Amino acid sequence: MPAVSKVCCIGAGYVGGPTCAVIALKCPHVQVTIVDLNQDRIDAWNSPDYKLPIYEPGLKDVVRQARGRNLFFSTNIDQAIQDADLIFVSVNTPTKKSGVGAGFAADLKYVESATRRIAKVATSNKIVVEKSTVPCRTAESMRTILEANSRPNCRFDILSNPEFLAEGTAISDLFNPDRVLIGSLQTPDGIAASNALRDIYANWVPTDRVLTVGLWSSELSKLAANAMLAQRISSINALSAICEATGANIDEVAHAIGYDSRIGPKFLRASVGFGGSCFQKDILNLVYLSRSLHLPEVADYWEQVVIMNEYQKRRFTKTVVDTLFNTITGKHIAVLGFAFKADTGDTRESPAITLVKDFLQEKALVNIYDPQVEREQIWADLAEAMPSVPSSDIQKQVHITSSALECCRNAEAVVIATEWREFREIDWELVYAGMNKPAFVFDGRLLVDAQKLRGIGFQVTVIGRGERL
Ligand code: UDX
Ligand code: ADP
Repeated sequence: MPAVSKVCCIGAGYVGGPTCAVIALKCPHVQVTIVDLNQDRIDAWNSPDYKLPIYEPGLKDVVRQARGRNLFFSTNIDQAIQDADLIFVSVNTPTKKSGVGAGFAADLKYVESATRRIAKVATSNKIVVEKSTVPCRTAESMRTILEANSRPNCRFDILSNPEFLAEGTAISDLFNPDRVLIGSLQTPDGIAASNALRDIYANWVPTDRVLTVGLWSSELSKLAANAMLAQRISSINALSAICEATGANIDEVAHAIGYDSRIGPKFLRASVGFGGSCFQKDILNLVYLSRSLHLPEVADYWEQVVIMNEYQKRRFTKTVVDTLFNTITGKHIAVLGFAFKADTGDTRESPAITLVKDFLQEKALVNIYDPQVEREQIWADLAEAMPSVPSSDIQKQVHITSSALECCRNAEAVVIATEWREFREIDWELVYAGMNKPAFVFDGRLLVDAQKLRGIGFQVTVIGRGERL
């Protein structure tokens, strides 16, 4: 198989955009074209002042270096498919909202439509790489569609190459990945295709970090990795509830158990709950797969990770209400952070959405501030979370502010929902001066120096700390 010289990526989102921009940067001899149906998104990727559609530290630099050289963004999907030797499919795969498997199974309509497009317009052999997180055996469905619809003399080899980047650290994760996983059929053609993709990564990833496995192992490994990571967070969050009830301190517990090299220190940070586009979706996929395979105990086991996450969010809201003398009706709550984690503008499955929804149901008045999330996104997320409440009613109760200080002014309580660095560094004396008294802080991210804030006069509640003052 000749070396790949032209790559196309279908889907210019959080995965396809950064991943293929880094491939272009690291492989100047390969032409990379990232395509999307969404004209606004492509225009933003092409914007002269680099106002890119996603916020990701370091991404602008990568695009600045490669765009126009060997990196192109376009809505001309058919042309890009025709030109490419290798096509990444990086479209969205949200959880189904209706029909069979609603609430659990992945909605594969975007993967299917992209695959059908490839089959329809391709006039030469292609390596088609499944990059979106998908349920196991999606590659097989893609193969069936491609083979049933292709022209004669047009070969398709399917690979699975799941992305393990985390938002907020995507560029460093891509520059220096723990591993790159490539799944293929174990046939001579499948292995040749796998080698062609391995050669692309070999431009910057040490060869011992590129793992080549079977197609189904690769697909399952992606779900398994996310389920295991999310499970650690639900485990530590379950322990945080015990800490609060007993007087133990979750930071100390996490530190102590993380010293055991078999457990390790990472991903043991108690929080108001995990969010993001992957964890919940992938676990639900695993649950759905297990149920389909008639493995109900396995399904229940993994589902508990998501149930614990919902519990953690509810528990936090209840703490806020209980602490504010059992009612927040008419009180002003300042929510600091709306993204699902720091260093991203992404709000998919953000715990902040659930918190704000719960506060609004308790008839509180909510101020929201996030350094990166667009106002329209916050309104859209709240409308989606509360479909039966008219937008005008939501807007009466919610005020989006453009600074943390403004957000906290005249509030009774501050709730830290995202671990943005700037929240640690704000002038808490000034915040205190502007708030109604007693002034409460609820730290859902183990972010602030609680002792220091108490010294200023705040009543501080931190997740997983027993000494509730
Ligand atoms: C995750 C995986 O880490 C990544 O490998 C995969 O490719 C996609 O899914 P991402 O969702 O971008 O990445 O972010 P991640 O850093 O994993 O955080 C997920 C959520 O868990 C966030 O809401 C974060 O705040 C929360 N979290 C993370 C904790 O609450 N505690 C922790 O210790 C770590
Ligand atoms: P992810 O986080 O998985 O990257 P995103 O939603 O950020 O998901 O990005 C997926 C992108 O894929 C969106 O910009 C969407 O417009 C694009 N997309 C979906 N279906 C198609 C398709 N058939 N052809 C081209 N682009 C598509």
